[in-house]
Amino acid sequence: MTDLFKAKAKDWDENARRTQLASAIGSSILEHVSLNKEMTVLDFGAGTGLITGQIAPLVNRVVAADTSKAMLDKLASKPELKDKVDIFCQDLLENPLDAKFDLIVSAMAMHHVQDTSRLIETFAEHLNDSGIVALADLDKEDGSFHPAGTQGVFHSGFDRDDLRAILQSRGFEQIAFFTAHIVNGDQKDYPIFLVTARKA
Ligand SMILES: C[S@@+](CC[C@H](N)C(=O)[O-])C[C@H]1O[C@@H](n2cnc3c(N)ncnc32)[C@H](O)[C@@H]1O
Repeated sequence: MTDLFKAKAKDWDENARRTQLASAIGSSILEHVSLNKEMTVLDFGAGTGLITGQIAPLVNRVVAADTSKAMLDKLASKPELKDKVDIFCQDLLENPLDAKFDLIVSAMAMHHVQDTSRLIETFAEHLNDSGIVALADLDKEDGSFHPAGTQGVFHSGFDRDDLRAILQSRGFEQIAFFTAHIVNGDQKDYPIFLVTARKA
């Protein structure tokens, strides 16, 4: 599998736009989801661990899953995460984990997965009963967020009503959308949603 994030991994954490976005998404998750020290959490598309790092101190364990070895190598190099995080470099849609979680978080990874219905189904399969998802990504945009020709981008954001319908069809309830952050681009602003939902 080609590692589309190999070149970006090296200085991912040095980019202020990315770290501000991850910080805002993490804060929104902490505001809208009750975490406790019993919980096991899956961070889907964990990257270098910017979200994992905000959640790990507050829960029992975090599993960081990503398809980019380069991004996960950066995560693995962070000493503060060493004893709290298990790392899996695999596509969970093709190779599911033999584990279930109390919470699945994901930040800015869903637009990299072509089949959103199958992704939400995969999340449901990885959740305990009454488990929660907290998913952040771009609201529907005109395709200008990523430079033209960026590989591996399958969605120009998501329409909230469409995503709500997919979550409902895959057995989620108590679906709530929040605006976690607004990315200020050169020409326009890009709202970022956080959606929380409970597996029925
Ligand atoms: C924009 S980055 C976000 C990383 C991190 N969540 C953050 O907020 O800094 C998207 C991440 O999703 C990962 N990704 C893309 N497709 C994936 C898939 N099918 N399964 C797991 N991770 C995937 C990429 O490798 C990348 O690390």
